[in-house]
Amino acid sequence: MGDRLFPTLGNGGYDVVHYGLTLDYVPETNRLKGTAVITARATQDLSRFDLDLSGLRVRTATVQGAKAQVARRDDEVLVTPAKAVGNGDVFKTVVTYDGIPRTLKGDDGGLEGWIETDDGSTALGEPTGSMTWFPGNHHPSDKATYDMTVTVPKDEDGDPYDVVSNGRLITEKDKGETVTRHWRTDEPMASYLAHVSVGYFEIHKGWTDDDLPVYVAIDPDESDAAADVPDVLPRIVDWASERFGPYPFSSTGAVVDHLPGLDYALETQTKPYFDEAPDEALIVHELAHQWFGNSVTPRRWKDMWLSEGLATYAEWLWEEGHGGRSTDEIFEDFYDGTDDESKGIWAFPPADPPSAGRVSDPPVYGRGAMVMHKVRNAVGDKTFFGILRTWTREHRYGNADTRQFIALCEEKSGKDLTGLFGTWLFGERKPPRM
Ligand code: TRP
Ligand code: ZN
Repeated sequence: MGDRLFPTLGNGGYDVVHYGLTLDYVPETNRLKGTAVITARATQDLSRFDLDLSGLRVRTATVQGAKAQVARRDDEVLVTPAKAVGNGDVFKTVVTYDGIPRTLKGDDGGLEGWIETDDGSTALGEPTGSMTWFPGNHHPSDKATYDMTVTVPKDEDGDPYDVVSNGRLITEKDKGETVTRHWRTDEPMASYLAHVSVGYFEIHKGWTDDDLPVYVAIDPDESDAAADVPDVLPRIVDWASERFGPYPFSSTGAVVDHLPGLDYALETQTKPYFDEAPDEALIVHELAHQWFGNSVTPRRWKDMWLSEGLATYAEWLWEEGHGGRSTDEIFEDFYDGTDDESKGIWAFPPADPPSAGRVSDPPVYGRGAMVMHKVRNAVGDKTFFGILRTWTREHRYGNADTRQFIALCEEKSGKDLTGLFGTWLFGERKPPRM
């Protein structure tokens, strides 16, 4: 894919349409056995292609039903089909694999990939972790739909584990010794948002005012602290829908896990993942990502400020609308450094992280939100929220980049915003007070 920040992620030559993942997982041994059925369209003639996979053993691979040659190099699976795939062909690759999936320690120091919890496991994919549990084209620009069918044995008392993943629950089967859950993601998803959690959960089902199904899974260790999440979450979805445009997916919810030491949440598609009971601002942040990041996904990692800046700005808007500081006051607190989250926001321009380890650093979040506030002040509320709704409508389920965002702001407002973006987004240092 040639991403400057993550040069080895993703592969050229094809575009994945759908992943069908069938997984068997044993929590006691942390052993995973998988079959990935990858449906893709070739974007050039392919005598060979690569998939990203870190660790695990590949047992077999077929392309269009015929046995393919497989080699491994670093975090790549090199697949040579028996017969070359033609440009434009839709082709099916089936990979069987197994092993103990890896937990990765990211360049930013955080844990990702397949992580064992005290009662099972969780899989978190930002920025690179999804390659630890399924082979694929692991770059945000290649989005696909998913079916995930996961089988887990019952525990030693004969009690079933829950399996929670993105999208809608299609079937649940209890075969006595094991349970199988099939989850489906109907709308395209970037692979860093793919998620599965195994463990014990209390399940809260409900509906939003707009009749969207809600599925909240809460680890019993967090049930007191997270008691209001099932009520608060649908209200936030409705609040955000009024501002950002129609909710983009066919279901919503959350996974509130208990994973001390993880220290972050992730906007996993349709059901954001929380390592512990979240406060309201964090729920707002992760739900805002469903529009900004998940439905409209950054084209490259350096465009991530569009997701994080808007998700952070959603927190500001929520605070302003719920008895907290005004967004002008929050902006000032970031500018003068009194807000805790303003630490480090001037280290680099938000759309240009200097290295992969810094894609989740403060400039991408706090200064990204400041850029949004500056745009809002320059163009007015009506135009600003019109820009956000046009953005989520025009790029729904796709990818978009910084240049396109700037162009849309200028087009909708009829203003030349070169100076504003030059100072606040691209400027190397904190601008003086004007
Ligand atoms: N996207 C997450 C959020 O804002 C934060 C995060 C977790 C992250 N891991 C990351 C951001 C890795 C960039 C890279 O809620
Ligand atoms: Zn975020």
